[in-house]
Amino acid sequence: MSDNQGLKQSVLLNNLNIIKSIAEAVKGTFGSQGLDVMLVDEFGNYTITNDGVKILSLIETNHPAAKILIEAAKFQEEQVGDGTTTVTILVEALLSEAVKQVEKGVPIPKLIEGLRLGLNYAKSKLTELASPIENLKDHKLRSACLIAGRGETELIDLLLKAAETIGLEKLKAKDFKFAKTIIAKNQTESQIIEGIILNKSRVNSAMPASLEKVKVFIIDDSLIPEDFPEEAISTEQGFAHFKQLQGNFLAGIKQLIDLKVNLVLIGGNLHPYAEELFTQNNIMAVQRVRKSELYRAVQFTGANLATRRTLNLAEAELEKFCGFIESAREDQNLDLIRLEGCLLPERQANTIIIGAAIEAFLAEKERIASDIASSLQACLDKGVVAGGGATELALSYFLNNLKKDLSQNSSFVNYGIDCWIEALKAPLSQISQNLGLNPLEKLAQVLSAQANTQSFSLGINAENGELACMQELGVFDPLSVKLLALNTACEVTIQLLKVNIIIKSKTNI
Ligand SMILES: Nc1ncnc2c1ncn2[C@@H]1O[C@H](COP(=O)(O)OP(=O)(O)OP(=O)(O)O)[C@@H](O)[C@H]1O
Ligand SMILES: [Mg+2]
Repeated sequence: MSDNQGLKQSVLLNNLNIIKSIAEAVKGTFGSQGLDVMLVDEFGNYTITNDGVKILSLIETNHPAAKILIEAAKFQEEQVGDGTTTVTILVEALLSEAVKQVEKGVPIPKLIEGLRLGLNYAKSKLTELASPIENLKDHKLRSACLIAGRGETELIDLLLKAAETIGLEKLKAKDFKFAKTIIAKNQTESQIIEGIILNKSRVNSAMPASLEKVKVFIIDDSLIPEDFPEEAISTEQGFAHFKQLQGNFLAGIKQLIDLKVNLVLIGGNLHPYAEELFTQNNIMAVQRVRKSELYRAVQFTGANLATRRTLNLAEAELEKFCGFIESAREDQNLDLIRLEGCLLPERQANTIIIGAAIEAFLAEKERIASDIASSLQACLDKGVVAGGGATELALSYFLNNLKKDLSQNSSFVNYGIDCWIEALKAPLSQISQNLGLNPLEKLAQVLSAQANTQSFSLGINAENGELACMQELGVFDPLSVKLLALNTACEVTIQLLKVNIIIKSKTNI
């Protein structure tokens, strides 16, 4: 073995060990019987969760291999809202197999070629195994939501009801994120609101608490005069410029009043002088509104998002930035502002409030609700496949057949496919382990049952550890979550395989 090969393998082995230690932290949470992880920081603050991406993002690490995996899990979460533990388990298994092949002398470029070939084949087979979800009443949809929502039936029914009011077309639209319509509120009943809400109160109680026929101006900025360097005020010219900026600001505020705007939503702070003018003119202003809420308000009201400079425009131009709704009302019980009655049906929006009697449970409840919402949309997008690791095992079987069909010429490429054949056994193996069963025994049992019956939904019943059809048990996962998990795991593995050497560099390369 050359020095370079030895070095390369030591980098690979080191990366594999890091990935193994990271995977160790999340593997125990996998599946319906997975347990929680408690993370404790240096001050003794703790978080208890079974959410893969949350655990990964709270792990303290500086190692680049770990960071690559954590970033990939975050990407998976952002894109489809689920499957982050699956990605971690697959990366660990794929990389372990790949390292074995490299040790046997398989050239890395050939291995990568085989991994990509295996990925594409697995993805096409996965798509063939999927069943579509045609409508919101489809029983497979509720079953998939029960899996994603860990049996929280109350939340699932609330979200399915909200989904009915939103409608299939919007739920299938690429730019609509159902999970973003959820907010958590302490000591409240869970409910659906027709319209959107701002998790804020008006700036002061002398402003109106309720408005009808609302003309709204939305600014993604602070409503204060343009910045001016303090030292420049000491010169005569500077002072004149400063006065001019203040004058412009005031003129802008007066223009909003002349335009009969009666609701102003502000991303940053409101200047006290503008606050006074708004209050005198019966304008409701809300400051420090979250960006996501500002964007929803823009869509709902039809306003254009303004910046501080927008106020310098002429009145007719400024008018074009205004939006309209039927009503705005501060809900003092819920401590939030409701915006209701959009003027065009395509702007219609709903908000789901998730309540909890005890604050400590609120964040976890919100997360589960958001998992259900993401899963529901993912199911509608591309349909569902059998869960519980059954489908991954079926893919392992199909890849084994593919390998037999490939010609002798592609023998090196076969090693990449071998990696997939073994790695795709990892989800079912881990689920069996978390059920307290012997993973090797269960793998062999399910593999041969699937092959003999050609029923690729066979897996393990989490209640009794027996062989069972996942579809009959209602254990479904969204196809898009699985497709992305395979992709993400493959890309991370390839990235780690390509690293030849790690060099300590200066910061910020
Ligand atoms: N009752 C069940 N029986 C069998 N398998 C189940 C059951 N409930 C869930 N699963 C399986 O567990 C796996 C998902 O587990 P989990 O939600 O812990 O991980 P993840 O979705 O990969 O990651 P995360 O949710 O942390 O982002 C899926 O394969 C799913 O089909
Ligand atoms: Mg999950």
